[in-house]
Amino acid sequence: MRAGPGLSLTDRVLAPPARRTCEVVARRETGRYVVFTALDSVGPEPAPGQFYMLTASGWGTHGGRPFLPRAFSVAAAEATDDGVRLEFLLEAVGPGTSVLAALDAGSSVSMLGPLGRPFSTPSEVNPGAAGALLVGGGIGIAPIAILRRHLREAGVPARTLLGFRDERHSGGLELFGACQELGLAFEDGHRGHRGYVTDLLEVALAGNGSSTATVYACGPPPMLEAVRRICAGRGVVAELAMESPMACGYGACFGCAVPLAGGGYMRLCVDGPVVRADQIESALVAGSGHS
Ligand SMILES: Cc1cc2nc3c(=O)[nH]c(=O)nc-3n(C[C@H](O)[C@H](O)[C@H](O)COP(=O)(O)OP(=O)(O)OC[C@H]3O[C@@H](n4cnc5c(N)ncnc54)[C@H](O)[C@@H]3O)c2cc1C
Ligand code: FES
Repeated sequence: MRAGPGLSLTDRVLAPPARRTCEVVARRETGRYVVFTALDSVGPEPAPGQFYMLTASGWGTHGGRPFLPRAFSVAAAEATDDGVRLEFLLEAVGPGTSVLAALDAGSSVSMLGPLGRPFSTPSEVNPGAAGALLVGGGIGIAPIAILRRHLREAGVPARTLLGFRDERHSGGLELFGACQELGLAFEDGHRGHRGYVTDLLEVALAGNGSSTATVYACGPPPMLEAVRRICAGRGVVAELAMESPMACGYGACFGCAVPLAGGGYMRLCVDGPVVRADQIESALVAGSGHS
């Protein structure tokens, strides 16, 4: 359900109150990662940047872990007659992600969502915006993929810059299809620019389009912090999709608190996970990021 009438494509979509069980209808491996698709016959279509708290059968079997659900950004969503097909891109880094990465078509996943604050449109955050500059790194390309699709459907000009460690860590790149406005950076230099995706961002912002660009980014904390600093240095408006350890996902536990630039804290699950870059003092959040 939408939060109210007359709101834009990117307004926060509210989750149904109860956790629900959804069928896993597809699973594929892509590089080091897994993409699985769940059919949500109850829930509304999520907005780009929102996330779900997931669990599955097998939870708690790794010496009692994981105990709590785990948070995942939605990478793609498509409304069908049978419900919303939700795609998740995930990396098995621990007990919860290992259970989810092993789910086959025909099995089920338990979910709560969509949760959190989504990305804004460029004109919502920057009235003078000429378009969007999307920056994704590693597994963080998931919310960038769905954002890019929404912007394209809304006719918003968007350029996408993606960075990866190496080919195996570029799983999910196919979520971007035949995207012509795509810049690639690989740390091992086997394709595209040799180095970081933030090198490409600096070049993109060096032109005279800098003042009208709106930057959207998701990736490892050091990448997000570099994006935050680059944009702050040039006065460019940016939104960052961040991570922090989340226990509940709906504002009750305060486990996801992130320091604000002006003092105090925000709960990333309800005030984020998408935040204005100038709201936070640093994107280097304790306990976040895949090692
Ligand atoms: C809003 C949000 C969206 C996310 N979207 C995705 C996604 O699309 N795909 C994906 O693979 N992962 C995503 N994550 C991260 C994912 O939730 C963690 O990797 C997961 O919780 C790890 O659980 P685990 O039981 O497998 O491993 P754990 O044993 O809990 O952790 C294993 C390692 O993962 C790291 N880690 C733990 N919790 C987090 C966390 N919250 N964020 C980042 N790293 C963590 C730690 O460094 C730890 O060493 C997201 C996290 C948040 C908060
Ligand atoms: S995860 Fe519980 S308050 Fe944010």
